[in-house]
Amino acid sequence: MKGTLKGIILAGGTASRLMPLTKVTNKHLLPVGRIPMIYHSINKLRDAGIEEILIVTGVNHMGDVVSLLGSGKDFNCKFTYKVQDEAGGIAQALALAENFAGSDPVAVILGDNIFEDPMSGYLQDFDGSGAHIILKEVHDPQRFGVAETDGRNVINIEEKPQSPKSRLAVTGIYFYDADVYNVIRTLKPSARGEFEISDVNNHYIQAGKMSCSYMNGWWSDAGTFESLARVQQLIEEAPPK
Ligand code: G1P
Repeated sequence: MKGTLKGIILAGGTASRLMPLTKVTNKHLLPVGRIPMIYHSINKLRDAGIEEILIVTGVNHMGDVVSLLGSGKDFNCKFTYKVQDEAGGIAQALALAENFAGSDPVAVILGDNIFEDPMSGYLQDFDGSGAHIILKEVHDPQRFGVAETDGRNVINIEEKPQSPKSRLAVTGIYFYDADVYNVIRTLKPSARGEFEISDVNNHYIQAGKMSCSYMNGWWSDAGTFESLARVQQLIEEAPPK
């Protein structure tokens, strides 16, 4: 690994799809299994040996997030916090990590993505340069970023396409080198007014600097009532490793 891998958990957003559960709290503090949702991302990063973790969340619930997590000493790691003022997309949230990460590579987890596999397996495929994404075949790809591949390599990603070119969802687990902040600076907001992580990934693909792994275990987001219920069931059946 070139540099020391640092962790980033993106835990912002308004979570309007989970109202009224998210009226007075952040989605990432809701219970998933026997722990708050955000503990799952922390556990994945800690199990991969990552000791410095940045948590990005919105203004409304930052206080609750800090009350729950503290400095990181309970998790044997060090937390840094950044506020995302408005819900301007995943790439905008990631841009806030620039000073935290410096020239080091980062592992990014969307806080509502819960998955079974340990992260250490993917780390073997990322040497700290370029970008690396994790793909998973799903039955409803139009809900996600969808990868088009030529067998082994990803050649394009479409964000929530109406006619997906494959069933390979881009999961919310990403690895980037320190170039990612320069890439984000070149982005324009999408039709939904957000800075899209899929635009960041397409940039790396076009530069020939993107690699990918395939996820074996289960994976789900937990941002809707249906997916949140599904995650609870998956955790009962096969707890994350
Ligand atoms: C985001 C990304 C999408 C990715 C998904 C994974 O979607 O934009 O590319 O597949 O996370 O959970 P969102 O959850 O913001 O709809």
